[in-house]
Amino acid sequence: MTTVRSVGILGLGAYAPPKVLSNADLEKVVDTSDEWITTRTGIKERRIAESGTATSDLAVQAAEIAIKNSGVKPSEIQLVIAATASPDMLFPPTASIVQNRLHISNAGAFDLEAGCTGFLYAVSVASQFVACGNYERVLVVGAEVLSKFLDWEDRSTCILFGDGAGAAVVGPVPEGTGILSFHLGSDGSTGELLCMPAGGSQMPPSRKTVEEKLHYVKMKGNEVFRHAIVKMEESARIVLEKSGLTIDDISHYIPHQANIRIIEGVTKRLNVPEHKLYTNLSSYGNTSCASIPLALYEALQKGKIRRGDIVLLTSVGAGLTWGGMVIKWNY
Ligand code: UT7
Repeated sequence: MTTVRSVGILGLGAYAPPKVLSNADLEKVVDTSDEWITTRTGIKERRIAESGTATSDLAVQAAEIAIKNSGVKPSEIQLVIAATASPDMLFPPTASIVQNRLHISNAGAFDLEAGCTGFLYAVSVASQFVACGNYERVLVVGAEVLSKFLDWEDRSTCILFGDGAGAAVVGPVPEGTGILSFHLGSDGSTGELLCMPAGGSQMPPSRKTVEEKLHYVKMKGNEVFRHAIVKMEESARIVLEKSGLTIDDISHYIPHQANIRIIEGVTKRLNVPEHKLYTNLSSYGNTSCASIPLALYEALQKGKIRRGDIVLLTSVGAGLTWGGMVIKWNY
């Protein structure tokens, strides 16, 4: 990327609600089996927010950890970006709710909606504010409670998703480290493959939309699957080329955690050795905007990522949107 100064992640945080929903639990809810879910998706269990818990509640928990780990004071944060497909409300922005809860008093705040690719989009956007010198500290959160928008009678979707949040404080880093490149893509002609049809201005809520279950996630899984493999591979190749690196230079590959077969497909096409791949999909399912920061944070906590390591991230989501990022880890 064309930068005036280098930008990276100063601190990360993540949080998942404690309630676990296992595949065995799901067997009691829909016509499915642990065997089907495990072999077709790689998911064993996911976390589910309690009723009354909103996206901002998870986001605040993750952001508190990220802020603490960054050593930055809330008063130093100048912008809050919340990436989510399951905001607390259509408006006000969930980012403003998070800003208020964390007493970040001198900051702008907005939501960014790019499906599951939201976190990569939001970090990319944040990086530009910092790169050009307008801001020193930007808080990015990727948080979801998609469980509230799932049709628990639709076995093709309800087994996939989980709730969670991740957060990153973005700021200037030593030259040559931090975000080396990013790529963002979208093809709106594929929007109907993964959508929540009602509740917006096109189809406002009504008795009929509720009766027809149009406020739930609808997905043509097979088609999203095909796009996901192609676009995550493409994004990886673009960001590697932009940063002047090859797959051999990569220390860790952390893809969006949607389906282990997608991840294995991309990993194989890219020739990423297995030991460089990090996944935690089996424990959390697809947490959409939270999936990359949840995995990144966990890998960091386990001591797998060290200063100077090259981390490759890729994602795909509703839109369809996709993206990639290469980070030279700066702490
Ligand atoms: O974050 C990005 C967005 N989402 C994704 O990346 C998801 C991408 N897609 C997928 O992960 C996969 O397409 C799914 C996991 C959703 C589905 O797996 P699949 O291998 O593509 O299965 P399918 O949709 O082709 O369905 C195969 C069979 C069908 O039965 P028939 O018609 O062959 O008799 C389904 O009805 O599996 C059946 N099926 C299930 N069976 C047991 C679908 N869901 C289930 C289930 N349990 N939960």
